[in-house]
Amino acid sequence: MHLLSLLLCVATLPSLLFAFPNVPFKTSKRWIVDSTGANFTYIGVNWPGAADVMIPEGLQYASIASIVSKVKSLKMNHVRLTFAIEMIDDIKDNGGDVTIQKAFTKALGNKGDAVYQQVIKNNPQFNASTTRLQVFDAVAAELSKQGVYVHLDNHMSKGAWCCSTNDGNAWFGDKYFNADKWKRGLQFMADHVSGPSKSWTSMVSIGLRNEFRKPDTAGSSQAYNWQTWYTQMVAAADLVNAANPNILIFLSGLDFDTTLSPIPGAGDLGGGKKFQKSSFKYADKLVLELHNYQNSATSCDSMKSGLYNNGFKAQDASAVNQMPVVLTEFGYSQTDTSFSGVYASCLRKIIPEWDAGWTIWVLSGSYYIRSGTQDFEESWGLLNHQWSDWRSTNAINGLKQMIDASLK
Ligand SMILES: *[C@@H]1O[C@H](CO)[C@@H](O)[C@H](O)[C@H]1NC(C)=O
Ligand SMILES: *[C@@H]1O[C@H](CO)[C@@H](O)[C@H](O)[C@H]1NC(C)=O
Repeated sequence: MHLLSLLLCVATLPSLLFAFPNVPFKTSKRWIVDSTGANFTYIGVNWPGAADVMIPEGLQYASIASIVSKVKSLKMNHVRLTFAIEMIDDIKDNGGDVTIQKAFTKALGNKGDAVYQQVIKNNPQFNASTTRLQVFDAVAAELSKQGVYVHLDNHMSKGAWCCSTNDGNAWFGDKYFNADKWKRGLQFMADHVSGPSKSWTSMVSIGLRNEFRKPDTAGSSQAYNWQTWYTQMVAAADLVNAANPNILIFLSGLDFDTTLSPIPGAGDLGGGKKFQKSSFKYADKLVLELHNYQNSATSCDSMKSGLYNNGFKAQDASAVNQMPVVLTEFGYSQTDTSFSGVYASCLRKIIPEWDAGWTIWVLSGSYYIRSGTQDFEESWGLLNHQWSDWRSTNAINGLKQMIDASLK
């Protein structure tokens, strides 16, 4: 053996001794298990990257490394990183990914360049030729480096704030929601994360689509029902699994992902369709995800029965399709006492009791742009506007109780 390659061999040995990341994950009944067979409970936060600029938020205020350190300091173990299909459409159809410099100018107009300058000041590894996807790669690399898992989420087709029933991204065939481009985008990302960039070593799962919802107008070419859901989701899952057999595939439900009610019991979805977990070759890669924003709830018991009947019953041994369920979105204002109200207290209690994973909305203290307002203040953000510290010590301490309960 050549001396140099011998040295390289020896140099890579210590890295084999580190446990992290213990990938790939799989499921076993209702549990998610890592490659050593240990149970894994998702405990984390949403980091949006699917709005108009299509770049993970916050980089005009802080470095990727410092943002990831904040997440890590809470003992969270994953980030749900959102992306828009439009980024992949640009790569495939419009001559390639655009540079972040162009992306800021396109989305923010004449203020875009100043924001771009701030981004490269805080993140000097980027420059005028850095593309959006390279920023995603860099975020994934830093998460991996700091021992945090990556869950990718397809949040939107057209990059914008999500979600409403009239934003053109609601359902298959809606104004911006081209089902074929959606599948192509998922396939592209599933392949990309296993590919040559080698940044995504802690990538463990992908959510096929965030919050399906019934579009206001009849502009959508496909019926809003479980039958369409089944046809599209199975087709997409097949493509994702073929592109990357290692990652878990998260399936979200209808009505803003508040219900998966026919899935645990393999109920009739219409047109003779039934979701049978056992019929999938990759049955041990499938996970269900729900969202909950019952912020004005007055009864934890009723929230609990609602969540159970809308999908969490899949975790029961009695379910036909016994599967893990993760609450990938819930959240509340970080500027008041919401953290101690019925809603937050209830989720803080029942989700850890159910040994279910969760991802709070949201990390961002502000957005590059949201619904037309630049430098938008996010009062639900765990971080402050400048992404420099937690927005509220009390609210973070409340969240830490949930983290501790889930880690037990
Ligand atoms: C996962 O946790 C459950 C409940 O504590 C336990 O029954 C199961 O054996 C655990 N699995 C592993 C692999 O530790
Ligand atoms: C510009 O940034 C990209 C990644 O973002 C990097 O690959 C490239 O080497 C950088 N170019 C220069 C000249 O620093």
